[in-house]
Amino acid sequence: METLPLQAHIDETAPAVMKAREAGVDFSRLPQHIAIIMDGNGRWALQRGLPRLVGHRQGYRTVRRVVKDCADLGVKMVTLYTFSTENWRRPPDETSGLMALIEEAARQELRQMVINGIQVRVIGRMHELPTSLQEELRRGIEITARNNRLILNLAINYGGRAEIVDAVRAIARRVRQGELQPEEIDESTIRAHLYAPDMPDPDLLIRTAGEMRVSNFLVWQTAYSELWVTPTLWPDFRTEHLIEAILSYQQRVRKFGGILDEE
Ligand code: IPE
Ligand code: IPE
Ligand code: MG
Repeated sequence: METLPLQAHIDETAPAVMKAREAGVDFSRLPQHIAIIMDGNGRWALQRGLPRLVGHRQGYRTVRRVVKDCADLGVKMVTLYTFSTENWRRPPDETSGLMALIEEAARQELRQMVINGIQVRVIGRMHELPTSLQEELRRGIEITARNNRLILNLAINYGGRAEIVDAVRAIARRVRQGELQPEEIDESTIRAHLYAPDMPDPDLLIRTAGEMRVSNFLVWQTAYSELWVTPTLWPDFRTEHLIEAILSYQQRVRKFGGILDEE
């Protein structure tokens, strides 16, 4: 797998780094790309008799901490499942509340993104989002475009199948134009037409709130990702859980269908 041309660096003074060192994390073998299915905001609120949106707001706080922790640890890329193409099935007050929250977060976090050297990107059908949210996201993408410590991919109105559909449509158009022969299509062609063609596959896929499913996240890209699921709800997810996931990742043997030299 290619390495990202970023200048990730470990912040030795950061609490996350001190905790990770103490826990035995091997900093020479960090996952370079961590993808997260941030689930359980609704349940977190329900347990407290609060509206679901309060859970989402609490989830936003976790996002801030986790992104900062990842940057401090020297992780190069984080992809967050923020809103799926299927999440439109929820009641309109929840979906509009989420859109407003994402917009507010995009506006509020811009400063921190710049300070922390974070480059923001969006994957998903962005053109279907409310115009004001699209504008806020575009602003964030532009302003952070040259940051090179960590790339943060926000999957918004994102579906793994929708992404493949969009790629196939683009490829079909090229075939129709005569630019491409069907026989020439291979995995690299498909990858080149995904929303973020230069995105390396996630090394580690974290899911909170216990569900053992992918829920249409990064369908193409997670073919060989290491999965780590915790029952902890996303608003309760802490540095300790992130470290636990990384430690678990470092104990795995990745074979990509092959066999090891010593086998
Ligand atoms: C995940 O939390 C956040 C989004 C899907 C936007 P949920 O809202 O799915 O939380 P649960 O699964 O109902 O607990
Ligand atoms: C996945 O969680 C989507 C996001 C985290 C944005 P869901 O809560 O939508 O997934 P399901 O419905 O439990 O599969
Ligand atoms: Mg859920």
